[in-house]
Amino acid sequence: MNTLRLEREGALAILTFQRPDKLNALNAEVLQELHQVLEELQEDSDLRVLILHGEGRAFVAGADIRAMSGMDAAQAVRFARLGQQVFDLLEALPQVTIAAVHGFALGGGMELAMACDVRVVERTARLGQPEVRLGLIPGFAGTQRLSRLVGTGWARYLILTGIQITGEEAHRIGLAEVLAEEGQALEAARKVAAEVLKAGPTAVALAKRVILRGRDMPFAVAEAYEAESFAYLFTTGEPQEGLRAFLEKRAARWVKEDA
Ligand code: COA
Repeated sequence: MNTLRLEREGALAILTFQRPDKLNALNAEVLQELHQVLEELQEDSDLRVLILHGEGRAFVAGADIRAMSGMDAAQAVRFARLGQQVFDLLEALPQVTIAAVHGFALGGGMELAMACDVRVVERTARLGQPEVRLGLIPGFAGTQRLSRLVGTGWARYLILTGIQITGEEAHRIGLAEVLAEEGQALEAARKVAAEVLKAGPTAVALAKRVILRGRDMPFAVAEAYEAESFAYLFTTGEPQEGLRAFLEKRAARWVKEDA
């Protein structure tokens, strides 16, 4: 891989965007490499948490403006579809994904962070969807994910003005769940990962799946899906261990089953 670096630490992996001279801007090569690495990681049943991070001054400063400047409409739709597909794959990963955001997370960079399960953002980071300032709109599902995360009011305000907000503001409006001091995003993301790693692996993977798949179902259907998933866990041995460990006042010893 040219544009990404994957480091594995047991059940945790850190995926770093490494095109720092272009503030990790997303061109087709980066998106294709991301697609390939995510396809591999989704099959890795020993991996439980993936942290996304950017090398240099930015998390990711957006889709590559130079690449987009030469596109016609047919190329533009292919580029948007590629980005959407890759971010959908990221969102649907069975592992827990954490965006560790510092510096700039603009346009496609913010859309990338929004496709993760948790956003850890440094107080001084700069986030925004500046596409309209370039005569564009968000094309990697930002128009949809931003509304779902922060409501249509904030989504319209941010997308229609293209303004940048700080990490602190992003945290205040619910765009970031964890606020970190400058230089501490990766460390704070590791702390979130450590909490996830204490929990039942099958329960965590299933909870993620029920939240995301249930989102697009009628409420009563989603409730039935939740109850079936809740019941399924009792066939894996995981709740039996978790409940017993609580009663015996000890840490649970998980044996991972594939959910
Ligand atoms: N696409 C392509 N290249 C980008 C980029 C992007 N989205 N964002 C930054 N870069 C490149 C710059 O062109 C520059 O390359 P160069 O050294 O070859 O000229 C390099 O990264 C450093 O960026 P620079 O603009 O010099 O840094 P800065 O600190 O002055 O400004 C930003 C930082 C993030 C404010 C500014 O780069 C910016 O506005 N980027 C575009 C953000 C954007 O609109 N993203 C959404 C795209 S749809």
